[in-house]
Amino acid sequence: MARVPALEDLGDVAGKRVLVRTDFNVPMEGPDDRRVITDDFRIRAALPTIEWLTSRGAHVVCASHLGRPKGAPSQKYSMEPVRARLAELAPGVELLENLRFSPGEEGNSPEFAASLIKGIDMYVNDAFGAAHRAHASIVGPPKTLPSAAGRLLQREVEVLGNLREKPKRPFVAVLGGAKVSDKLGVIESLLQIVDALVIGGGMCFTFLAAQGYPVGASLCELDQLTTCKKLMEGSKPIYLPEDIVGLDASGNFATFGIRLPEGAKGLDIGPGSAAAFTDVIMDARTVFWNGPMGMFEDERFAAGTRTVAEAMAATKAFTIVGGGDSAAALAQFGLDDEVDHVSTGGGAALELLELGDLPGLNALRGAPNVK
Ligand code: 3PG
Repeated sequence: MARVPALEDLGDVAGKRVLVRTDFNVPMEGPDDRRVITDDFRIRAALPTIEWLTSRGAHVVCASHLGRPKGAPSQKYSMEPVRARLAELAPGVELLENLRFSPGEEGNSPEFAASLIKGIDMYVNDAFGAAHRAHASIVGPPKTLPSAAGRLLQREVEVLGNLREKPKRPFVAVLGGAKVSDKLGVIESLLQIVDALVIGGGMCFTFLAAQGYPVGASLCELDQLTTCKKLMEGSKPIYLPEDIVGLDASGNFATFGIRLPEGAKGLDIGPGSAAAFTDVIMDARTVFWNGPMGMFEDERFAAGTRTVAEAMAATKAFTIVGGGDSAAALAQFGLDDEVDHVSTGGGAALELLELGDLPGLNALRGAPNVK
């Protein structure tokens, strides 16, 4: 992948006002006027970049989106709780209001981008989680300002870029989550670079149905059966669950084999499958995991995801967890420090693996300070 400018490429930052695009899209709970941050991982992840700049005399102005407020201000998505946390972690750093309160952000309006960089001397993108969005704050500033990737973005690109280019083999990808259709592109791309694919989560039922197994009332995308069949006819092994945990037709907790009776709903991989997936993970030298194995928020259906998380922690392989729900699962099981890299991006990590580049990276390469 072509090089992306780093902080060192900015030159002297002393006395400069630097706009840092961060991804402070953090999980929150509580009523709209008293929102509480439940995980500040993404704020802490931006600190190395902020500290690099402030320790060299720059004044940092952070800007981020929060949630999907659809172009209008709302209390629910106010940056105030984030601003308060940032003030504790990095005193003196400014934070603009939610970028998505303006329709110009997602609409990539040049006027909105111009308003963001008024009085700003340099731009840093450290928002890996949003680097797949061609939004105004991501692609606009590098058109005119000296620009660079922050440390977080740089590290994500190194780790995920290496996965595409020179992974230690065997390289195994473990995918979960609800829908095959959402991840079709990345499944096809991963099959070009991995040695084996492991599939659990809601999407496994479409693969099982494509093999002719009855899946009861489980999530199943009938329009994806032919695609799944084709994927399984390829040369790379695709491991699927051989037992399933879920609810029977009367709504009672039950463990099934590979065939689900009528009305039964699969909500987690079974213990046999979790053990088999563990073996594959233990034998690998690189493992990428994205998507839970089941509905782990419900303790009855958390065992499959927990076993995979424990295998990720125990294996000697280089382990990468791709954002979103799988990162949340790792944190829920207290294993987030036990893997080599937890990506701050869900969609961005998958898109980088699938396409090998992101709009936010490409924009940085075109900045005036880049030769
Ligand atoms: C994320 O949470 O994945 C990023 O912050 C991007 O958010 P978005 O999917 O709303 O663009």
